[in-house]
Amino acid sequence: MTVLVTGGRGAIARAVTAGLIAAGQDVRVASREPSALPSAVAYDPLDPAPALRDISQVFLYSAPSTAPAFVAAAEAAGVKQVVLLSSLSALGGPEDPHAKTEHVVANASYATTRLQPGAFMSNAKYWAHQVRAIGQIRLPYLEAEEAPIHEQDIADAAVRVLLDGPGNGHDGRGYPLTGPESMTRRHQIGLITEVTGVPIEAVDLTPDQARAEMGMRDEGQRETLLAYWASRVGTPAAIEPGVELLTGHTARTFTTWLTDNPGLFT
Ligand SMILES: NC(=O)c1ccc[n+]([C@@H]2O[C@H](COP(=O)([O-])OP(=O)(O)OC[C@H]3O[C@@H](n4cnc5c(N)ncnc54)[C@H](OP(=O)(O)O)[C@@H]3O)[C@@H](O)[C@H]2O)c1
Repeated sequence: MTVLVTGGRGAIARAVTAGLIAAGQDVRVASREPSALPSAVAYDPLDPAPALRDISQVFLYSAPSTAPAFVAAAEAAGVKQVVLLSSLSALGGPEDPHAKTEHVVANASYATTRLQPGAFMSNAKYWAHQVRAIGQIRLPYLEAEEAPIHEQDIADAAVRVLLDGPGNGHDGRGYPLTGPESMTRRHQIGLITEVTGVPIEAVDLTPDQARAEMGMRDEGQRETLLAYWASRVGTPAAIEPGVELLTGHTARTFTTWLTDNPGLFT
């Protein structure tokens, strides 16, 4: 029984791989850039058949455009279980890209479990260069609330489902996953200063300033993000019980994430 872990360079895939190996599983790591990792195989999302040879379970990163190719190849390879890294946004309706991927990936003969995490704590990594360069974090909607989740908790949940295997209560299920508390982005910035000792000026950008500074090529994606953050102002994020349910431990805090990632902001 070999487990294929796709998205090998991602933080979650790395933690899933470590967890499965620690549990004594055979793991094949796959990446679109295999040369970046020791002993990874190539993963072409449009032609996943070579990576899927002799595989029984898969931890999957996917997208609407490549999901059909995965399903066809996984069926042909005789895969028994797929744990899909999806998103909480999939619960927003069928037009959401993650909802579309879920729909395609789950429509198959293998057992599917959808992990639906909210915002990752690791998104804070994208703020680090501003802190080091100018001592500021410049964001729109600093009062937007989210319940960010530690990548290790997503990985722990995935490992639990894969170790339990198909036919053990996870088939066809979706697990919304969040961190342990709702907090504003301003509060997250305050915690970074508290833990690292680095003074940071939080600058609340207007939406137009944010459009100019975000540097996102995909306008649609940028506007979706801005609208999402606007909708989160003054609305505490719901805390989902998924991490505790699957792993038996409480979800890790943002303070823990900061201590697990030393040196990022200095
Ligand atoms: N960031 C968040 O707050 C958040 C929240 C909820 C859900 N998600 C979802 O979680 C996934 C990873 O997010 P991330 O922020 O960690 O992204 P990332 O840093 O861009 O991706 C991490 C790794 O995931 C693999 N990957 C990403 N998209 C893939 C795809 N379409 N097909 C195959 N492999 C793919 C790649 O591994 P290789 O290059 O090694 O193949 C990539 O290096 C995405 O689907 C994202 O939408 C993100």
